[in-house]
Amino acid sequence: MAEIQLRNISKRWGSFVGVDNFDLTIPDREFLVLLGPSGCGKTTTMRMIAGLEDPTEGDILVDGKRVNELEPKDRDVAMVFQSYALYPNMNVYDNIRFPLKVRGIDPKSHDEKVRRASAMVELDDFLHRKPAELSGGQRQRVALARAIVREPNVFLMDEPLSNLDAKLRVSTRAQIKNLSHELQVTTVYVTHDQIEAMTLADRVVVMKKGVVQQVGTPTDIYDTPANTFVASFIGNPAMNLMDGELKGGTFHAEHVEIAGFNAPDGKVILGFRAEDAGLGDADHHEITAPIYTLELLGDATMVTVRIGRELVAVRGPKDFRAEIDDQVSLSVPKEICHLFDGETGQRIEA
Ligand SMILES: Nc1ncnc2c1ncn2[C@@H]1O[C@H](COP(=O)(O)OP(=O)(O)O)[C@@H](O)[C@H]1O
Ligand SMILES: [Mg+2]
Repeated sequence: MAEIQLRNISKRWGSFVGVDNFDLTIPDREFLVLLGPSGCGKTTTMRMIAGLEDPTEGDILVDGKRVNELEPKDRDVAMVFQSYALYPNMNVYDNIRFPLKVRGIDPKSHDEKVRRASAMVELDDFLHRKPAELSGGQRQRVALARAIVREPNVFLMDEPLSNLDAKLRVSTRAQIKNLSHELQVTTVYVTHDQIEAMTLADRVVVMKKGVVQQVGTPTDIYDTPANTFVASFIGNPAMNLMDGELKGGTFHAEHVEIAGFNAPDGKVILGFRAEDAGLGDADHHEITAPIYTLELLGDATMVTVRIGRELVAVRGPKDFRAEIDDQVSLSVPKEICHLFDGETGQRIEA
């Protein structure tokens, strides 16, 4: 088992802050996803857990024991990277076996371990092939098996799917989810892809410029984003956000008026998700606006309207049809809205 504690860890290079005061306990067996745009400090955080990077400040504990000074090889973590880093001259079997050899594991157990790990990632029929004779997805599965075969206390995965094409990414994602259910090992998984985060994580850490923005279950961060950064990073399309003013409990912006809020007057940002708003109900609408574009998605129609200078997306029924520039009514009742402070972008409960 392995519980990981990150106690106020920071990483600085000169005056540049890569990771700022990261403080989190990752319980045994949790699948934790670090999510954020490129350069926000995800890989650096993971490398500090692995021992490949020393924190400038703070402590890292595994099962209550400080490991800051432990070498990577003594930390019992297995890493899977975006680049598979397989040995080109070795076949799949020997690639998967390699960590057992290096670690001096009893050779008598190797064959069984290699076969079990390769079966888990469905590579049993490819053991004699060289990496060059495999597809990208198969190579990534060899890298996964090579991590699994070690039976580590912690898995660290850094964007393991980003070299795969879209279809393979979806199926390999499902396989990782199933594997992690089977293996029950504490996992820290890094991605910039919010869908990967939502589908895989027990909990997600959303990061921006080295600073943790929110920690929560996928449902938490989707339903109650802590600020406008999280609101606009999670979800496809991103949450609609509108600048405006709250006066006497009513939100005012150009062409928009939504009543019933319970929050102090002032500059605010109003947010709502495309799938929560209603479309074309002339009796109950808060907004009337011209259509900017329509996208047929098969299961729905994504309607983008122009409100003043802002574009707002609303998910309509699959059979919704209209023309560009037609006026439509949107129902955006207070109940579906999120409010954020106009200055800080922090969530306001209203
Ligand atoms: N060795 C280093 N020296 C200086 N800056 C670095 C170093 N490694 C990473 N950085 C910077 O730290 C920031 C975070 O990097 P990284 O953790 O790799 O981001 P992510 O994985 O989220 O894309 C980036 O701005 C990156 O340029
Ligand atoms: Mg990275």
